[in-house]
Amino acid sequence: MDQKATVRLTIDNKEITVAQNMTILEAARENGIRIPTLCHHPALSNWGGCRICVVEVDKAPRLVASCVMPVREGMEVVTSNERILESRRTILEFLFAERNHYCMFCAQSGDCELQSLAYELGMDHLTVPPSFKEFPIDATNPYMALDHNRCILCGRCVRACKELAGNSVLNYQNRGARTLICKDLNDLTEDSSCDSSGVCLQVCPTGAMYQRLRPHQAVLGKRGPVRVVQTRCAVCGLLCQGQYSVRDGNLMRIDGLLSTQRPDRGQLCRKGRFEPLVNKGGRILEPMVRGKDHELHPTTWEDALERLAAGMMQGRQRKAGLLGLVSADCSCEEIWLFKEMLEEGMGGHAGLLEREALLPIQGALKEMERTFLGLRECSWVHLSEADFILLVGGHPEESHPLLVSMIRRASMERGAWVASMGGSGVSSAFRTLHAEIASHELAEAVRFLLARALEGSGSFNPITRWRRILSEVEPIRSKDSLKELPLQLREVVEQIASGFMNSLHPLIVAGPELSGKGEYSALQHVMFLALLKGLLPQNGLRLILLKPGGNPACALRLNCLGIPEESEARGAGACLLLLGGGQNHGLGGVVPRADFLGVIGSHVPEELLNKAHVILPRPLWLEQEGSYLSLDGHEMGHVSEVLSPPPGVRRSWETLLALAGRTGVRALPSTMESLRARTMAAMNLS
Ligand code: SF4
Ligand code: SF4
Ligand code: FES
Repeated sequence: MDQKATVRLTIDNKEITVAQNMTILEAARENGIRIPTLCHHPALSNWGGCRICVVEVDKAPRLVASCVMPVREGMEVVTSNERILESRRTILEFLFAERNHYCMFCAQSGDCELQSLAYELGMDHLTVPPSFKEFPIDATNPYMALDHNRCILCGRCVRACKELAGNSVLNYQNRGARTLICKDLNDLTEDSSCDSSGVCLQVCPTGAMYQRLRPHQAVLGKRGPVRVVQTRCAVCGLLCQGQYSVRDGNLMRIDGLLSTQRPDRGQLCRKGRFEPLVNKGGRILEPMVRGKDHELHPTTWEDALERLAAGMMQGRQRKAGLLGLVSADCSCEEIWLFKEMLEEGMGGHAGLLEREALLPIQGALKEMERTFLGLRECSWVHLSEADFILLVGGHPEESHPLLVSMIRRASMERGAWVASMGGSGVSSAFRTLHAEIASHELAEAVRFLLARALEGSGSFNPITRWRRILSEVEPIRSKDSLKELPLQLREVVEQIASGFMNSLHPLIVAGPELSGKGEYSALQHVMFLALLKGLLPQNGLRLILLKPGGNPACALRLNCLGIPEESEARGAGACLLLLGGGQNHGLGGVVPRADFLGVIGSHVPEELLNKAHVILPRPLWLEQEGSYLSLDGHEMGHVSEVLSPPPGVRRSWETLLALAGRTGVRALPSTMESLRARTMAAMNLS
């Protein structure tokens, strides 16, 4: 340890040496000395509001809050004596007396920091009269409720909303005993700008904020041992780290690994924190086959596998062939095995359910690759350094809410400019510039933007790469080739172009509205624009491409996207096999014309239920392990099996291998380890 940066002090007669920028609380915790806290949270700024953490320093008559008091050389700290305990008990009593803390009626009882502290400090009755004021409960959000009667005004939620979620929705209203936490201008959660990330709920030390999903199970301490699994979230491709609490085989709650050290601050968004807890109903839990009466009937796995294998073998022999579509939500192992079995093993074709959104991206990336060798998207973590963020043609608040939280923080903490064209997703409070442009006019506006940026780019560095850009985009420089945009819009786009070119670390977040039906010139123009400001490490363009599904980058990497044109035009193969997906993804019209339809899924939309000949259940992503590539293809994450699949539901890779065995496909890996090794090798990641 650098001697200059440290101080020596004693805590409870123990001599310690710690970094000089620490607080007493941090120094104590680093040396295994416990000081109770309430308003303090390690991922939040220190506030010093509750004074539960008081300690005695140098025998001074006044106790100090250890969470905000810095250490100094020679300091003598006492963390526990009768005077300190009395002070803590008094504060605690007032907290209990001020609002309604009848623990037996509280969902959080057994997992409440306030309640634990009462036990720890031996507070078995109140010596002050309780107040019987009644405060409202806000239960307008589907995921979480705010019960002001249990709130101790510690402000953790207010700080988490601002410092972690970058949202500043929460604040205080009123004064004194009537002080309440409020949302925006005292709106109900439903009407406020809250994005339901739930980070406030995670840091709340009491039952004031509680999750509405599975409230009967939310109490960690009440019954039975809790198994906590730390793994990644596989929902949107950002691979956030989470902590999953499971008891009696039930998922009770999901927490983020909050940390100020990570670019995303260890948060989770509503899709990762709450949606896995939502029971969507309609789960497929047993194999089904269509009978002679044209109805679906439950059957055994053996029968369903035989019927599906027979359908696939027949399809292979017919002209239209065998076609498989896998969802971008599936793990790398599932995608690789599905493709390998259908293409290498059976001579069929494998594509992606979400191919419409991903094919243009693949086209544009290939085109860039042809012109400028080795370019790729940058990692999404670069959002944490950007000083100008351009959002174009996407709705990240729907697809990737966590990125929106990082964009808000960039604006709030670093004063980054946030500009948007087309869709936005960032509230106007955080946006510097916005050009409202309909989807069908976006391509022209992007051309105009690139033309203006080129004008502002001055002379090019005469290296090959820049000469190439010039030759590629020369036609754009000609003003005559541009359609006129309305004056007001033109001015905003011109400001966006100049802001982008004048910033040091600009970044573009582009969404699916930029491309469609195989047309990707607008996407290419955005790539050229990104290139004008130079590259990030690893040949990264200053560009993040929003894509559907939890693992789209894997489908791109394994080239598992398109299906043959004749199948696309005709409607389907003679046998169509679908893996994954659900209500969320379009099927591109292929289903209605399939002669034989097999589905392996956890939830099957009505449209498919009416047509499928065989349906096999599939686990949810939390019910089977698998690897996932991050949205940008930069990071590989492993998702553990948090829950066992329900009885009767087999893991997908076991189902695919059983199918392969019945269709005569050999030489596929037979264990998860060998499957992972083959998948990684196929992705050049071994
Ligand atoms: S918030 Fe905590 S202390 Fe208050 S009633 Fe609920 S369990 Fe008891
Ligand atoms: S709602 Fe929870 S986190 Fe927020 S001030 Fe009240 S007790 Fe603290
Ligand atoms: S924890 Fe230190 S003042 Fe609240």
